[in-house]
Amino acid sequence: MTIDANTCLYAVIGDPVAHSLSPAMHNAAFGHTGYNGVYTAFRVTDLPAAIAGIRALNIRGCSVTIPHKVAVMDLLDEIEPLARRIGAVNTIVNDGDRLSGFNSDSPGAMAALLEKTPVAHRHVAVIGAGGAARALAHGIRENGGRLTVVNRSVDKGQRLAGELESDFCRLADFSGVGYDILVNTTSVGMVPKTDRMPVRHACLRPGMTVMDIVYNPLETKLLKAAREAGCAVVDGVAMFVHQGACQFERWTGLKAPVQLMKRTVIDALK
Ligand code: ATR
Repeated sequence: MTIDANTCLYAVIGDPVAHSLSPAMHNAAFGHTGYNGVYTAFRVTDLPAAIAGIRALNIRGCSVTIPHKVAVMDLLDEIEPLARRIGAVNTIVNDGDRLSGFNSDSPGAMAALLEKTPVAHRHVAVIGAGGAARALAHGIRENGGRLTVVNRSVDKGQRLAGELESDFCRLADFSGVGYDILVNTTSVGMVPKTDRMPVRHACLRPGMTVMDIVYNPLETKLLKAAREAGCAVVDGVAMFVHQGACQFERWTGLKAPVQLMKRTVIDALK
């Protein structure tokens, strides 16, 4: 693809961003669909200046990552209701006039999960109560799932459960009994902590669907154990790719080449 005067610029803004897989994934999608766009990464410490820069240079869209997903909300012109409820924006769309904020983590996670299991009326345990858990938990409720927030600290877990009129369970008390779906949103199991699991083996029951939002390593100890226990598994790559596909579709109006995006991410992680 030729970069020319009409090429639309996109970027991830965050700190750190050097290891982000978003540029490889989105550029592959732009190339495959023939969309005249290019996607790069900007390490941003001064967020207000970066947002002013997006406006000044007419950068057409951004992914927003750690540590800016919450603070960015005050700097945009419009926030979609779901992102407002979650309290985090990870996608900016610039229509040339206004900057709008969206959350693609939530629909991306649901798309990945729904590939393997229905969610409506299923009993879902979300482990964790941080930013990622908020996106997952709201998605589960939006899709009609019955939610239990499972967290190590009581205050934070109870707060999220209360907000969504859902149940709370302390991580230490979690048995897995009676659950159809289990989603890990904590960083437990992420490289270099690969030998750890957020729950005990006994919590993994045949017939359950187990999802881990961690994608480095490609298969966490939790997902390996879940597979061995007879569970269906959804890995973090699926969620990452689907949240990227939601962004791509918002930015371009085209259908995202999901399989190609997935292959690109897996190759980059190997
Ligand atoms: P993020 O925004 O990426 O979700 P976060 O806001 O720091 O990250 O939230 C991390 C979540 O993972 C929290 O719910 C945290 O539990 P606490 O509320 O008890 O701190 C959970 N978490 C992190 N490390 C954990 C561990 N080693 N064991 C169990 N839970 C852990």
